[in-house]
Amino acid sequence: MKPLTKAIFPVAGLGTRFLPATKAQPKEMLTVIDKPLIQFAVEEAIAAGVTQLIFVTGRTKRAIADHFDATPELDRLLREKGRETVAEELRTIIPPHVTCIYIRQPEALGLGHAVHCAAPLIGDDEPFAVLLADDLMRGDPPVLAQMAEVQRATGRSVLAVNPVPLEDIGSYGVVAAQDPGEGGSAPVTDMVEKPPKGEAPSNLAVVGRYILRPEVMGVLATLPPGRGGEIQLTDAIRQLIPGTGVEAFRYRGRRYDCGSKMGFLEATVDMGLEHPDYGPQLRAHLRSSLGA
Ligand code: UTP
Repeated sequence: MKPLTKAIFPVAGLGTRFLPATKAQPKEMLTVIDKPLIQFAVEEAIAAGVTQLIFVTGRTKRAIADHFDATPELDRLLREKGRETVAEELRTIIPPHVTCIYIRQPEALGLGHAVHCAAPLIGDDEPFAVLLADDLMRGDPPVLAQMAEVQRATGRSVLAVNPVPLEDIGSYGVVAAQDPGEGGSAPVTDMVEKPPKGEAPSNLAVVGRYILRPEVMGVLATLPPGRGGEIQLTDAIRQLIPGTGVEAFRYRGRRYDCGSKMGFLEATVDMGLEHPDYGPQLRAHLRSSLGA
């Protein structure tokens, strides 16, 4: 297997949990303070050694491609105004050694279908990452880089997992695996998408980071729709378990579910409080709002 250099960003979903904000705007362009969710995910991928960013887009998603294009007029304007730092920040969002590729998913038929749209770009000796940008991951080292270590060491597909309360488990893909403890990984023996309460094989939920072996593309090519009538990535990964194997990795870090309004609020508050410019003011504001 070649080293990890490719990442797929499926961004063609409808984002119904965040309406009306996502009616005409991709949810991946929602910003935490001043950075869109998709840029956090792109930075995480680049930090893990990825050099090809493959965006699977759909209708209303043009803003994502625009965001990663160069903007020479804006660059010139900012430099004329002496705002070199901001200009430099914009110029280096995509470093010169990294390329962006855009593919359309003509219809939102499910995450598995979206990933398979990128199949022509993945060689049969290339592992690839899948990042769901609405899961904002914070870790040091970044979560995908932690996963790349596990992928290199085991040669298996690697899924980021996190324990979640059993009352929430029905919203996730869930693995059957021994809990490896934070920072550890364990072989997956089975997995199921959004199990009904009481049927979950564990409390370990798969979150939006995957490093997959290329064989999964062959599985996706003929996979019938699963839960919810969608082509499910979970169903395809499940078929890799008896063959090349799948590892559940309990990342070190924190996940914010920014596809939900509450998760997005939590991310905004936590990252706002840590912000070097706005943190102290926000803290004072929150204290006063809470009457504390
Ligand atoms: P979600 O399950 O979060 O669905 O998709 P969604 O439509 O984006 O959002 P909600 O639940 O209606 O609010 C998980 C990821 O898979 C992508 C989404 O863009 C998201 O990153 N996806 C999903 C696709 O690209 N295509 C699909 O057909 C389905």
